Amino acid sequence: MEDDIDLRQALEEALVENGHEVVTASDGALGLEKMRRFHPDVVVLDLMMPKLDGWQFRVAQRQEPAIADTPVVVISASDTPAALAVNADLYVRKPFDADTLVHAIDGVVNAHERKANFARVAQTERLAALGTLAAGLAHEINNPLTYVLIELAHAMKLLDTIATDENRGVIDQVKSLTRTALDGAERISGVTRAIRSFSRPDDRGLVPIDVRGPLEAAIRLVAHDVKLRAKLTTHFETFPMVIANEGGLGQVFLNLLTNAVQAIPEGNPEDNEIRVVAGVDSAGGLSIEIADSGEGIPVHLQQRIFEPFFSTKPVGHGTGLGLSISHSIIRSFGGSLTVTSDPGRGSTFRIRLPPISSQPS
Ligand SMILES: Nc1ncnc2c1ncn2[C@@H]1O[C@H](COP(=O)(O)OP(=O)(O)O)[C@@H](O)[C@H]1O
Ligand SMILES: [Mg+2]
Repeated sequence: MEDDIDLRQALEEALVENGHEVVTASDGALGLEKMRRFHPDVVVLDLMMPKLDGWQFRVAQRQEPAIADTPVVVISASDTPAALAVNADLYVRKPFDADTLVHAIDGVVNAHERKANFARVAQTERLAALGTLAAGLAHEINNPLTYVLIELAHAMKLLDTIATDENRGVIDQVKSLTRTALDGAERISGVTRAIRSFSRPDDRGLVPIDVRGPLEAAIRLVAHDVKLRAKLTTHFETFPMVIANEGGLGQVFLNLLTNAVQAIPEGNPEDNEIRVVAGVDSAGGLSIEIADSGEGIPVHLQQRIFEPFFSTKPVGHGTGLGLSISHSIIRSFGGSLTVTSDPGRGSTFRIRLPPISSQPS
């Protein structure tokens, strides 16, 4: 972004010569627009520009989650406090030679990539640690829970044998209390079972699979709930075979589709959509997207939603396990599960699975 046409062209040439792809803009407003369209790895920013100057551009950039983190190199004639207030990743003083700038840009891009990589790895390790913790917890809960379930069921039976005409009222009351306790214990048992299945998803055999089958089965299961809220559209290009496990895949699809349904309130099916897209990704593997036009996910929660027990839903509607289980299942197939979301507009969950040929045999 540079309003001086000579400088802009010179910079473009130097960068292209060094293997960069360049999109230019003569002012901050146009630059912002192009950024939304092209999602560059780095922005080279002049400060004094018409329409939106460098400072105004930075304010606007930071307000848009999709481009807020893109690193910025400022080229400026001064390093006054005002220039520094633009808060860039790097400043290059005018005048400069092209080599210096190209070098500086490469450095900023590399540092940014390292940081993003580190954040991804840290997040994956945190999820793995939380998963191990949850699995241990489930195991510890399960043993005593077994006694609770058995003894409560036993107590129910005994109550029937000691009932007489006189104590019938009290016995019925105690039975109803016992039933409630049993229901609660059974719900706990459902949760511990879910955690166990998530901590060892790779115990189930991995085989070559055409994903269309489990995907369509999951769609059939939610079709009824979808009807009241959204149109369900599918775009199935092709399904490259992948190595996976049918039960695990079905569980993932069901979790993602259920979340999509729950993100859309009932009553406006005409204005809402759940879209399922299947095709080949750039690596030749399978890409499946499940997108909804629902409430979306606030930016600061977008990483946390994969943690076990993280839920924003009222008690009884969500366990907070769906996404952490799904994440761990897809990882056990060597794939990835990621999210992009526009708060207020909707979310897209993307599953990627490597092509069969790239699997170690
Ligand atoms: N499609 C979606 N749209 C909006 N929010 C979502 C979506 N999918 C997941 N979430 C958020 O992620 C949280 C965790 O999801 P999940 O692990 O499936 O647990 P649960 O659905 O039981 O709450 C949800 O509580 C919700 O806040
Ligand atoms: Mg869920």
